[in-house]
Amino acid sequence: MEKEAETIEIQKELFDEKKSKFAKYQSLVVGEPGFFKLLKYELIMLLSNNLPGALGLFLRSKLYPKLLGKVGRNVTFGTNVVLRHPKKIIIGDNVVIDDNCVLDAKGQNNRGIVIENGVFLGRNTILNCKNGNIFLGENANFGFNCHVFAAGDVKIGKNALIAAYTYFVGGDHTAKRTDIPVLFQPRTAKGVTIGDNVWFGAGVRVLDGVTIGRDAIIGANAVVTKDIPDFAIAVGIPAKVIKNRLET
Ligand SMILES: CC(C)(COP(=O)(O)OP(=O)(O)OC[C@H]1O[C@@H](n2cnc3c(N)ncnc32)[C@H](O)[C@@H]1OP(=O)(O)O)[C@@H](O)C(=O)NCCC(=O)NCCS
Repeated sequence: MEKEAETIEIQKELFDEKKSKFAKYQSLVVGEPGFFKLLKYELIMLLSNNLPGALGLFLRSKLYPKLLGKVGRNVTFGTNVVLRHPKKIIIGDNVVIDDNCVLDAKGQNNRGIVIENGVFLGRNTILNCKNGNIFLGENANFGFNCHVFAAGDVKIGKNALIAAYTYFVGGDHTAKRTDIPVLFQPRTAKGVTIGDNVWFGAGVRVLDGVTIGRDAIIGANAVVTKDIPDFAIAVGIPAKVIKNRLET
């Protein structure tokens, strides 16, 4: 369902003069009130976030579950992973979150991020909620430098193969007026839905409001602006269906 995104409201919090610097940090980063919650977050990050090698991996596997909403068995966190609103992040079993990933569940009234069993997030991949929700189905496999932005709901089906530099853009701007910049005009968010078993070539962009059917293939560098049916192969800018896998 389309909604007006509230990204600007979140940014405005940074400049709210009625709030102390601590309160702003806590609401943007920790996402829950309470001094001891802040202290716990700070200590765990300080002790383990940047610690290299096996000791870092071990400490993060023991300590991050104390910050996150729920974490399954055998989950690996690389170094320098950014966690925002960690209580709204749920992770299944056998998940890998590589170095420098961002898990940002920020939002005033969202549910946050769900990462199902067997998901792999390649290095530098960013999951970024701005009051939306992100769901990654079982075994979804992201190459490095991918980005999921969610002002609405972004749902990636199971067994997705997502090559490097792919970007799911779950939100948009309006530009009806010409007397004020786009930056200050209303934002919208319809969300993005990806069926099971879809393969995305390198550098694909999927724009807000798009649904991609199961077992589709999207060619490298495509910009997907409209829905793509099940089993289709689509390429180009804007992405056009060139084949159906069931017919070839
Ligand atoms: C989409 C893809 C799977 C198509 O494979 P295919 O079904 O074998 O298609 P073909 O090679 O027969 O190409 C069919 C037509 O689409 C064009 N085409 C193929 N891939 C394209 C792309 N990414 N962008 C634009 N056009 C593309 C071909 O040039 C060809 O055009 P033509 O008929 O005018 O000659 C493949 O080209 C691709 O992009 N793979 C992704 C590779 C990748 O990024 N891997 C990263 C590691 S996971």
